[in-house]
Amino acid sequence: MKYPISVELTQKSSIGEVDFNNLVFGRNISDHMFVADFTDGEWTDCRIVPYGPMPMSPAIMALHYGQAIFEGMKANKHHETGEPLLFRPEMHLDRINRSALRMAMQPIPAEIFMNALSSLLDIDRDWIPQSEGSALYLRPHMFAFDSTLGVKSSDTYRFVIMTSPVGPYYPKPIRLLVADKYVRAFPGGVGFAKAAGNYGATLAPAQQAKNKGFDQILWLDGLEFKYLQECGTMNIMCVIDDTVVTPNLTDTILAGITRDSLIHLMRDQGIKVEERPISIQEVIEANKSGELKEMFGTGTAAVLSNVSEISYKDEIYTLPPVEGRKIGPFIKKVLEDYKKSLQPDKFNWLVPVKNLISTETNK
Ligand code: COI
Repeated sequence: MKYPISVELTQKSSIGEVDFNNLVFGRNISDHMFVADFTDGEWTDCRIVPYGPMPMSPAIMALHYGQAIFEGMKANKHHETGEPLLFRPEMHLDRINRSALRMAMQPIPAEIFMNALSSLLDIDRDWIPQSEGSALYLRPHMFAFDSTLGVKSSDTYRFVIMTSPVGPYYPKPIRLLVADKYVRAFPGGVGFAKAAGNYGATLAPAQQAKNKGFDQILWLDGLEFKYLQECGTMNIMCVIDDTVVTPNLTDTILAGITRDSLIHLMRDQGIKVEERPISIQEVIEANKSGELKEMFGTGTAAVLSNVSEISYKDEIYTLPPVEGRKIGPFIKKVLEDYKKSLQPDKFNWLVPVKNLISTETNK
């Protein structure tokens, strides 16, 4: 291996503190984390260490100028063998490196990304939950590490992966507030990147939406406030008659890997999918005429979350009852089964972990 990984195992596992029957998104972090540093022009010091605080200067540039990016991925166990299975890790690698490029950060070599995930999952395999709708959430992230106050791109970076056993992100159908004042992203900006600042910038509008009883914001385009974009935590899909319609990808929308997976699976099942601009007016008209059958958000954390209501310009639009919906619940099950290898791996999306630690390191 060009990038060997050293391992320091925890002296005290905290797995006994986790209520695996009642997992709340992000509450529990697994015993170990992966860390690597970019310094003197190369990635070095790949290590797995006990999860915990790490000393760093309050001057690191990530804190001041926002060079910080992340991924959200999931791993499940094979339904028979119990082997950990990563879902589409190469696609997450591509995306974090597209984010890195846009934010003038250092790309992660494929070997580091893939071997880090494999080794971490191998060590913390007992943290992968198996109850319905649960998974081990993986959070690779990178941040600028230079301690200096001048505005420039950092010369040093830290890359960390931590993992967390999670249940459903949205346990109930969600209510969306359609943004008619704030904007999430603008053409030429960083909306397609998984940059930390994209999330920070939406927190105040999201809090206002929560105060009004909504779970999330449905963002519209920043030029005309007309076309659906995404929800920040999810991409958005509408079922109009028998066709699933979802906004086509642009530089203002995150290229969701769950979005892409569902599109493949739906087309494979003979369900029609259109990726095209869809206006809020079209959605409202379709709801009024009864042609809007379903609306759902899609994302790694959210998987597929049904929308029960949307509010636009102070009008509430109630969508058809979730119980009678056909496409969303069906395709969600197809995807969840796929991740546990309950379906043939037709698209080569599942990557079993490799046992790298025993041969290459001091485990
Ligand atoms: C994900 O789905 O992984 C996300 O990153 C969304 C959110 C939890 C930040």
